[in-house]
Amino acid sequence: MNGGRLGGENGANAGGGTRSERVGLVGVAKAFGRRGRQGALPVLDDVDLSVAGGEFVAVLGPSGCGKSTLLRLIAGLDRPTAGEVRLGGQPVTGVDARCAIVFQEPRLLPWRSVAANVALGARGRATATKPEALLAQVGLDGFAAAYPHQLSGGMAQRAGLARALIGEPRVLLLDEPFAALDALTRLRMQDLLAGICRQWRPTVVMVTHDVDEALTLADRIVIMGPRPARVVATIAVPTLRPRDRADPALARLRAEILGFFGFGTGTGIAPAATRREDARHDEREAAIA
Ligand SMILES: Nc1ncnc2c1ncn2[C@@H]1O[C@H](COP(=O)(O)OP(=O)(O)OP(=O)(O)O)[C@@H](O)[C@H]1O
Ligand SMILES: [Mg+2]
Repeated sequence: MNGGRLGGENGANAGGGTRSERVGLVGVAKAFGRRGRQGALPVLDDVDLSVAGGEFVAVLGPSGCGKSTLLRLIAGLDRPTAGEVRLGGQPVTGVDARCAIVFQEPRLLPWRSVAANVALGARGRATATKPEALLAQVGLDGFAAAYPHQLSGGMAQRAGLARALIGEPRVLLLDEPFAALDALTRLRMQDLLAGICRQWRPTVVMVTHDVDEALTLADRIVIMGPRPARVVATIAVPTLRPRDRADPALARLRAEILGFFGFGTGTGIAPAATRREDARHDEREAAIA
């Protein structure tokens, strides 16, 4: 661990929640034009989602339903076809320094060292945490001077995570950040992320295909339907933190979620949980408006 804020036990924002922004999507639709064909490909349709400041939301949904597209819209990398994306109550009009995104693929610059790639995430600002210290936290101690082609896929992905964390963003957007990791490293990275979130409380929207990962990390799990996708259910994960992966309450939620996707004996999302979340959503939207 390092002496910077990300790794310290007594971070300046420990438990404060002051370094986060709420995120809101209201009636968001996104369609992509199809070259040489008639019409457009509708990907997102009427997506409503509110994420409170400091909340951790995991997004689950079928491949190709628009999860990465959703993150790109929040990051201001793309514009919705209809509806509005808001950050801290203000419409998102472009890339915003308060947001950092970990893409589905590492996207490191091959001509820069690993440390220089991580430093890019600071966007020229002095940060409390040095790239080398952050690399050590994500298990890349000794690779600061290496170049991306000298890393494995999982190592490159962890370097991408370090690049997003170094700027201490108020909104952290994670697109399957641990997908290329072996099972044990994945658990370690989940614990690292959970620890960072406990200390510094960014707002997090994380796409994952791993139900257990969502249950370990998230305050709320959002399930998207097939394309054109909308939010079909939200499930609060009420267990205390730090989470115990063996908690029977998590196992019950897991069965419900898998049932929702058509696996096991589950019959779908508990209607009460969904209704409760709908009400909370309305409250959050009112607060943003
Ligand atoms: N720039 C683009 N131009 C045209 N179509 C696009 C573009 N980006 C995404 N799409 C299409 O939008 C749909 C959703 O893509 P997206 O990458 O958001 O899915 P996803 O839910 O992240 O999938 P996965 O789980 O496989 O990563 C896909 O059909 C994809 O082909
Ligand atoms: Mg994706």
